[in-house]
Amino acid sequence: MTTSWATFTTKCGRIGAVGLLVGFVILWLLATIDVYEDPETFNPGRYLQNEFGVKPGVDVSDFRNSIIFGGGRRMCPGIHLANTSLALNVMNLLWAFEFSASTDPKTGESVPVDLFNYEKGSFYIPVPFSCNIKPRSSARTQIIETEYAMARTVFEKFESTSRELEAVTA
Ligand code: HEM
Repeated sequence: MTTSWATFTTKCGRIGAVGLLVGFVILWLLATIDVYEDPETFNPGRYLQNEFGVKPGVDVSDFRNSIIFGGGRRMCPGIHLANTSLALNVMNLLWAFEFSASTDPKTGESVPVDLFNYEKGSFYIPVPFSCNIKPRSSARTQIIETEYAMARTVFEKFESTSRELEAVTA
C-alpha cells in the first residue's frame, strides 16, 4: 500500500500536534507551581488579587488571557463572541440557580464533588457528577418561563427535529 504525500504530511502533522500538546501541558504544569499559590486548589478568590490570579511579585507582562484561542495570524476570530457568550451564560446561570453539593439520601451528608475526576485522554472533560441545582426564587422561575415562552416564538423556526438532523449528518 502506498501512502500519498498529503496523507503522510497530515499524519506527521497530527503526531506533531499531539507531541506539542503533551510538551505544552508538562511545561505548563511545571510553570504553574512557581506562578500560582497552591495551583491545584479551586480558589477563584485569587483573581480578586490581580487579573491573572498569580502570586505577588510574578512578572505578568507576557501574560494574556486569550492563549486558548491560539495566536498569530490564524488566531481564532470568534474570540469575542465566545468570551461574551460564555460570560453571559455563566452570569445568567448564577442569577437564576443555586448550585450546591448533592446530599447522600442515606446519611444526609453532603457529597463533595471530586474536582480532579476527569476522563482520561487528550481532552479534559469532567466525569459526570451529581449536584443540586435549584431556582433561586419562584419570581426568578417565573421570569425564566416567561422569557422562554417569548424566545420560543422567535427561535422555533430554527429548531430541527432529530429526523432532520439525521438526514443532514447521514
Ligand atoms: C471557547 C470557544 C472557542 C475556542 C476555545 C476557540 C479556539 C480556537 C483555536 C485554538 C483556533 C486555532 C487558532 C490558531 O491556529 O492559532 C481557532 C480557530 C478558529 N475559530 Fe475558534 N474558538 C472558539 C470559538 C469560536 C467561535 C464562536 C467562532 C465563530 C463564531 C470561531 C471561529 C474560528 C475560526 C473561523 C477559526 C479559523 C481561523 C483561521 O484559521 O484563520 N471560534 N479557534
